[in-house]
Amino acid sequence: MRRCLPLALATLFVTGCSSRRAELYQDPTAPLEARVESALALMTLDEKLEQMHGDLAIARRGLSGTADNTRLGIPGFIMVDGMRGLGVAMGKATTFPVGAARGATFDPELEELVGQAIGAEARARGANVLLAPTMNLLRHPRWGRAQETYGEDPWHVGLMAEAFVRGAQREVIASAKHFALNSIEDTRLTVSVGADERTLRELYLPHFERVVMAGVGSVMAAYNQVNGSYCAESTHLLGDILRGAWGFDGFVVSDWVFAMHDTTASAVAGLDLEMPVPVYYGQALTDAVHAGRVTVAVIDDAVRRILRQKLRFGLLDGRPALAPQAVGESAAHTALARRVAEESIVLLANLDGTLPLDAATTRRLAVVGALASQVNLGDHGSSDTTSSQPVTPLAGLQARTAGALELVDLGRDVLTPDDLAALASADAAVVVVGLTAADESEAMTGTGDRESLALAPAHEALVAQVAAVVPKTIVVVEGSGPVLVESFVDEIGALLTVFYPGVEGGTALAAVLFGDVDPSGRLPFTWPRAESQLPPFVNDQPVVTYDLLHGYRYVDAQGGDPRFPFGFGASYTTFSLHDLRLDAATLAPDGTLHLSVAVTNTGARAGADVVQAYVAYPGSRVTRAPRELKAFARVSLAPGETKTLDLDINARDLAYWDVATGAFVVEPLTYEVAVGHSSRDLPLWTSFEVAP
Ligand code: GLC
Repeated sequence: MRRCLPLALATLFVTGCSSRRAELYQDPTAPLEARVESALALMTLDEKLEQMHGDLAIARRGLSGTADNTRLGIPGFIMVDGMRGLGVAMGKATTFPVGAARGATFDPELEELVGQAIGAEARARGANVLLAPTMNLLRHPRWGRAQETYGEDPWHVGLMAEAFVRGAQREVIASAKHFALNSIEDTRLTVSVGADERTLRELYLPHFERVVMAGVGSVMAAYNQVNGSYCAESTHLLGDILRGAWGFDGFVVSDWVFAMHDTTASAVAGLDLEMPVPVYYGQALTDAVHAGRVTVAVIDDAVRRILRQKLRFGLLDGRPALAPQAVGESAAHTALARRVAEESIVLLANLDGTLPLDAATTRRLAVVGALASQVNLGDHGSSDTTSSQPVTPLAGLQARTAGALELVDLGRDVLTPDDLAALASADAAVVVVGLTAADESEAMTGTGDRESLALAPAHEALVAQVAAVVPKTIVVVEGSGPVLVESFVDEIGALLTVFYPGVEGGTALAAVLFGDVDPSGRLPFTWPRAESQLPPFVNDQPVVTYDLLHGYRYVDAQGGDPRFPFGFGASYTTFSLHDLRLDAATLAPDGTLHLSVAVTNTGARAGADVVQAYVAYPGSRVTRAPRELKAFARVSLAPGETKTLDLDINARDLAYWDVATGAFVVEPLTYEVAVGHSSRDLPLWTSFEVAP
């Protein structure tokens, strides 16, 4: 049977062609667990073991999946990557802004739409598992895959990833990755990340717990080790925590090819599915069962978890396939990509109202830099995508200004004397610099981790050259995250980061630069003045050790002064916060604190703000970060408009992991909560008690 039959046709095959009388597992009205047991009971051992590994025939065709069980009419998985859009294996698709850009929107509602859009494009191509979201904490911005994840803070990453899963799983099974502490590319296959239990439970796992509680169907085990144990065979991660503490009932899939190391250890730990082909499972697992090293009960548990998700997501019950042409690169998805790009652009500096540009007074606009006319969608690793018509910054500006002003295309990084002469008569200049897949990428598919946070010297020189000639020099940075800007930040008119902005990035940039859209992105990471302000990035050692402090938590604890703090982003208008109120001064250990705060747009332009609430723990009995993000909300306001926001904080989310008792403890304490526009701009403060 052709592998990628649309689900509806596959269903006909299953129901119409299957020779079996209707069994309970084939009854969509029967209880899920009864269906699972019914199917499992009919399977031979070989059929069970076949569920637990990728299919070589599928892999040979450049796809990833598992075999159909035609005797019982149980379809296999067809898996596709897709953090920024459908993976290249499935052809052209909508390329959305990368995860870091979506993190900058601080807009979970929007992220849910992105998840559903990518999920729909996956289902339309016959896939039933989407290998996303990438949701590892950005411990250091030099990580080669920094672009894929949402940011450095677990509360923020958890909310964004949960939203993605909610949306994607309206269409397919999502796979939360990479579980856990994947944070380096160059040593990713072997590095052992050391983290004590507090660091694990309080920092590197809560966002994964959130998506498990939200019902994610799959979790992908990372390549690396945690405390000396490979994730794909870690009984602590996969047993004690994922299934024991969190009750995860989905399946754990290995990362590709190199995540498994020991047949028995992985099977016993609860690694359910080896991808993309059987190396440690397949015959080796069959042998382990026959030799008694792995019991049939262990196999049954793994197959139950796989069958449960296949049944839960209707793989046996046939859902109408989506017409690929109606979904992939549709006008609706392209418009969504544009909206995400518009909401993700972060205005970092705007001297004397350099922006927004006004076509009436900007008669000549120079667009400078090779990146201005280069398609720059992100790295070419597993998250790579192919789209038909990506809009570059130059194309976006040309479309926006057509006929209204003269656009001077200086699309190179080394300017000629004639270029400089042309610049001299420009009213403003947009200089596009930053990173590409040549600077940062997934390992084995490109350069891997970034060498440093510095911009290329040629880009620094280009900015300096333009700024020396054009007072209104606007620097646009592309890439996953921060680049060092100290050499020019005080010499330019404006600075923005657009990340890898997706298929409509140029359109969105032009809309922001000309004020059609208010810049409303907020940094999902700390932007340092120098790399020394961050913890060291150790990507050449076999063992690294992480603790509770990185990003803003680390910089705050160090008393550092970052160039731009976590949560920062400027606007063309101004906002004031007032009337912070708590619904109670004392919170029960299992209670929820209801905060309300009013936000007023005190400027003359419509805009959006992201109000953030951070909690501090003065006098805590354990070491804590100086303050931690525990709530945020995005709000759009017309000039002069005021809205009141509700920010809820659950006491459980303030708990620390008590190593002595092996449990979370909500400490009786006077907590401080600060509300503002970034981790360093917190004008409103109050406090509350948690009762013993
Ligand atoms: C990779 C990546 C993972 C991806 C998988 C399949 O090595 O680490 O994120 O989903 O292979 O492409």
